[in-house]
Amino acid sequence: MLVLGIETSCDETGVALYHSEQGLIGNLLHSQVELHAQYGGVVPELASRDHIRKLLPLCNELLASNQKNLADLGGIAYTAGPGLLGAVLVGATFGRSLAWGLGIPALGVHHMEAHLLAPLMAGDPPPLPFVALLVSGGHTQLVKVSGLGEYQILGESIDDAAGEAFDKVAKLLKLGYPGGPALAKLAEQGDPNKYRLPRPMTDRPGLDFSFSGLKTAALTLINKLGDEAWQAPGQADVARAFEEAVVDTLSIKCRRALEAADCQHLVLAGGVSANQRLRARLQQELGDKLGAECHYAPPALCTDNGAMVAYAGCQRLIAGEREPLAITTKARWPMTELQPPAASQQTASHN
Ligand code: KG4
Ligand code: ZN
Repeated sequence: MLVLGIETSCDETGVALYHSEQGLIGNLLHSQVELHAQYGGVVPELASRDHIRKLLPLCNELLASNQKNLADLGGIAYTAGPGLLGAVLVGATFGRSLAWGLGIPALGVHHMEAHLLAPLMAGDPPPLPFVALLVSGGHTQLVKVSGLGEYQILGESIDDAAGEAFDKVAKLLKLGYPGGPALAKLAEQGDPNKYRLPRPMTDRPGLDFSFSGLKTAALTLINKLGDEAWQAPGQADVARAFEEAVVDTLSIKCRRALEAADCQHLVLAGGVSANQRLRARLQQELGDKLGAECHYAPPALCTDNGAMVAYAGCQRLIAGEREPLAITTKARWPMTELQPPAASQQTASHN
């Protein structure tokens, strides 16, 4: 089955073609970074309007550049939430309507499930069950994955998500938007031993996270340093101290989660999983020291993209899951509400 995947939950318009036997066939992304940069963050209404402008031409380009046409599609998957509701609605309305017009099945995909499954797209997937660390702009969660739609939350952030903390501290360091990747790049030049920031909630048992206090600790340090915090080398040293604190915290909790779930495989997913220091630390602490295996997607498939939506949608579509004609989107949507495809089918047929 050839599935068109559509991602419009935030500030990237992503479209992709995934084939159940041939794998990923095409993947295109239009980033709205330039549009939002002057405002220092994502402006939801501008995001929705830009998705409307870009989605159709991007789909046409995707099909044409892969010598496919609409008649080749066997299904359409679109992000149905969680995300900015106006932005999600653009992709959902377009995807559901196009599928209806073509007489093919459609499926609304959970954005975080799509992130979670992205690392399984290539290479050899880990055996079940495994532990997933989901680290994005809106979520930080440790999940025990026993199958498609079988998710047990082991721990999560009680306040800011890791990506959100990266973005906020980047702003405090005057690195602008999008902050996370800029902070990570600057941190490469920083001295890891110059400043030490707290590793929140690691001094007590448990798998929850809190990144809001770490952000405040970074703010206090920046205020203390004054102008030094916005110049070389101070700016890079603070960036490095912050990145070290996040990476250390995530690594400590991942180790605990693997032990608690009695698993040997960790899947790392979401925008922050593109962070090279995080990957290296997990490899060092979990791989080299514990003999665990870490799995992650190529950086371009860690941040928002259409490929992960096409892939997640394809897994559920080939299992027989179908979306009714109603277009359902959710700004908030706990992943624990998801069910395996067979159970979802029964629920759908009752509606
Ligand atoms: O998964 P994603 O693209 O969108 C959401 O679903 O939220 O994640 C975006 C988040 C942002 O907070 C961004 O700053 C962060 O991922 N991010 C990074 C890196 N690349 C993206 N954070 C740290 N290091 C990176 N290299
Ligand atoms: Zn995302």
